[in-house]
Amino acid sequence: MDAPGALIPVLPRLFEGLDALGCMPRLTARLAREAGAGPGLRVLDLGCGKGAAAVEVAARTGCLVLGVDAFGPFIDSARELAERRGVAERCEFRKGIIGRSPRGMFDGALLLNVLPLEVAAPLARRLVRPGGFYIVDDAVRVRGRRLPAGVMVLEREEARARLMQGGDEILAEYIPAPARVRAMNARLYRVIAGNTRALARERPGLRPALAEFLRRQREANRQLSGPIRPALWVVRRSPA
Ligand SMILES: C[S@@+](CC[C@H](N)C(=O)[O-])C[C@H]1O[C@@H](n2cnc3c(N)ncnc32)[C@H](O)[C@@H]1O
Repeated sequence: MDAPGALIPVLPRLFEGLDALGCMPRLTARLAREAGAGPGLRVLDLGCGKGAAAVEVAARTGCLVLGVDAFGPFIDSARELAERRGVAERCEFRKGIIGRSPRGMFDGALLLNVLPLEVAAPLARRLVRPGGFYIVDDAVRVRGRRLPAGVMVLEREEARARLMQGGDEILAEYIPAPARVRAMNARLYRVIAGNTRALARERPGLRPALAEFLRRQREANRQLSGPIRPALWVVRRSPA
């Protein structure tokens, strides 16, 4: 979430009013359905945040979704969202750490804005059965563009090569145009900035951390419509 440590206890307030914390729930659900998600199948959402994608996938495909996230208050929000959307019986949310999930157990896996592609893809393919699908939402670097020191993002062709390692097939790729990215991020930023201002009035001691948090959000948004583009892939794990 790229928030200073002092803000961890107030993260639920900072993200109040947002279900999706970067993911595109409707697009994800449509792509999951096209990849074969349907009634009775099991999908894992790792780093599910407040459950927006998990709930949408359960609602639109009929599959069973297990959402796992390290942050307990987000798990509570995800359960509430599933109740509100009437899919609580098909959704389970657990507090947990990525990496402790059983291998090969799932028909599909979602890793949305939680790990860099080069880590997310091999993890996802260990979690889904042969022939299952996984969806990774991360980013690519625009060819030839430089990134700030210490930031590592693969170019599109490198990312695709990683995904196809081991014989997996890319079923779909979505890289939104910069104007679309700016519009999506502006909406998120408006909500977060409003929450931050309210919190700064209530908790003046947090003001420096809140200012730093907003600065990081602006910088991330600037990167995501400049040298980096958000990128989402749907991948079929090799049947072999
Ligand atoms: C940017 S949010 C994305 C949430 C959601 N996937 C979405 O796109 O709306 C990243 C989420 O990953 C969770 N997370 C980060 N590291 C984790 C880990 N090691 N184990 C479990 N969850 C983790 C965070 O708590 C946070 O909810």
